[in-house]
Amino acid sequence: SFLDLVVDQNVYIDGFGVCEGTLACSICHVILDQKGYDHLGPIIDEENDMLDLAFGLTDMSRLGCQVC
Ligand code: FES
Repeated sequence: SFLDLVVDQNVYIDGFGVCEGTLACSICHVILDQKGYDHLGPIIDEENDMLDLAFGLTDMSRLGCQVC
């Protein structure tokens, strides 16, 4: 996942991945371009529920811990 990439590369993003990908925080919210968004698999209900709580939600939003 994008979260794994951030952790593996030691990229510091304040709070990113605080729930370790358990769909409990929405801090890993990312906004993709159309091409990137279309390349990903479907959103599961649990991700959608947590996305609703994300700051600045857009039509291109996903949770970084759920996208590969
Ligand atoms: Fe918490 Fe993605 S890391 S929902």
